[in-house]
Amino acid sequence: MELPFAESWKIKMVEPIRKSTREQREKWLKEAHYNVFQLKSEQVYIDCITDSGTGSMSDRQWAAMMMGDESYAGASSFFRLKDTITRITGFEYVIPTHQGRAAENVLFSHLVTAGSVVPGNSHFDTTKGHIESRKATALDCTIDEAKDTQLELPFKGNVDPKKLEKALAEHADKVPFIIVTVTNNTAGGQPVSMQNLREVRAIADKYKKRLILDSARFAENAYFIKTREKGYENKTIKEIVKEMFSLADGMTMSAKKDGIVNMGGFIATRHEDWYEGAKRFCIPFEGYLTYGGMNGRDMDALAVGLDENTEFDNLETRIKQVEYLAKRFDEFGIPYQRPVGGHAIFVDATRILTQVPKEEFPAQTLTTELYLEAGIRGCEIGYILADRDPVTRENRFGGLDLLRLCIPRRVYTNNHMDVIAVAMKNVFDRRDQIKRGVKIVWEAELMRHFTVKLEKL
Ligand code: F0G
Repeated sequence: MELPFAESWKIKMVEPIRKSTREQREKWLKEAHYNVFQLKSEQVYIDCITDSGTGSMSDRQWAAMMMGDESYAGASSFFRLKDTITRITGFEYVIPTHQGRAAENVLFSHLVTAGSVVPGNSHFDTTKGHIESRKATALDCTIDEAKDTQLELPFKGNVDPKKLEKALAEHADKVPFIIVTVTNNTAGGQPVSMQNLREVRAIADKYKKRLILDSARFAENAYFIKTREKGYENKTIKEIVKEMFSLADGMTMSAKKDGIVNMGGFIATRHEDWYEGAKRFCIPFEGYLTYGGMNGRDMDALAVGLDENTEFDNLETRIKQVEYLAKRFDEFGIPYQRPVGGHAIFVDATRILTQVPKEEFPAQTLTTELYLEAGIRGCEIGYILADRDPVTRENRFGGLDLLRLCIPRRVYTNNHMDVIAVAMKNVFDRRDQIKRGVKIVWEAELMRHFTVKLEKL
């Protein structure tokens, strides 16, 4: 008999989590204005709000932390991190930042100006925020198929080359760079193929533009290339990663995801002019160039994390867990963005809460229902997160309205996945009784989903 699949690690340290009663959760959720970001973590049983900074570090990462060099300037931790990044990505110039959005802030301060147009594939909300706050436009060129949650495509995060070509033909003089997000978080943690990256590179070359990879989940993307794209089955993850970055000019990185650290990020590039330009903003915003918002010990943990998480076994353990949850959802007929992505399962709220009008935010409503059901915290990736159109100030209902259940790396077991699946089924089974959603009573102008205050209708 063939042995079953099991994790490529064993557990050395545990942290207790707590259950609660429905009554308690009803009170807590009301106090949180029906916004799960406002809940205290102790009010949550299984936390799937994000995979960002919530992973478990390995024994090797904790050990590396003890070697951290906290020198203000020239810390050896920085050079260990820089050498690792250069070895893995091929990029020579590295600027650490305190997290991904800080990398965007520093690099975009140099590159994006009022009137710029930045084409890409479903820019993440902080990426879009850093573009739009500079009075520039984030132009989404994701393939249309990504919007059909039930369509099975191996690389549903891809850029549509025709849309990209059109964007460049129309706006070439205003485009400072193209940005491709791997994996495509907003479209459901969907990967981008190597073939697609090659096509994007060819268009970039034609218009003499540079390409940035928003690389938060670059290693998971490489796993999908290895397991789904012809010609890559015998390549190592590190070889695939190297090839992905060979097609780009630089990267912004939220190290809190595929770096498996709790805080951190960086910019890396092959171009000295980008490095020189970004340097000017790193110092006032983040700190001196050899720490840029990170502790020495965190840079050491990140160097080890990047190495570990560009190994197949670690990625396979992670992605198989997300697949396991998806299989349970399939048993119950719960619709989600298919095929399941790398870091999360994105439940298609508009297919479940069909009676809740879009103006009452179905995905946000489903998020609150799942929390009430079992203390499981997901988050809305939908109409609230989409913010208002900066010009018309209207809600943007054009995209998908999803409940994202994000799986932290190396944290929960498949027993937890079973709890999530059954809780979701219980909500799904009473979907016809859920007729009303939520109403916004207060919101911020940008990135409103973190602080929005809602009322139950
Ligand atoms: N790019 C992508 C694709 C992201 O998913 C994120 C963060 C960022 C950039 C920004 O990085 O948080 O380190 O500043 N995503 C988290 C999430 C918050 O929950 O998906 P950051």
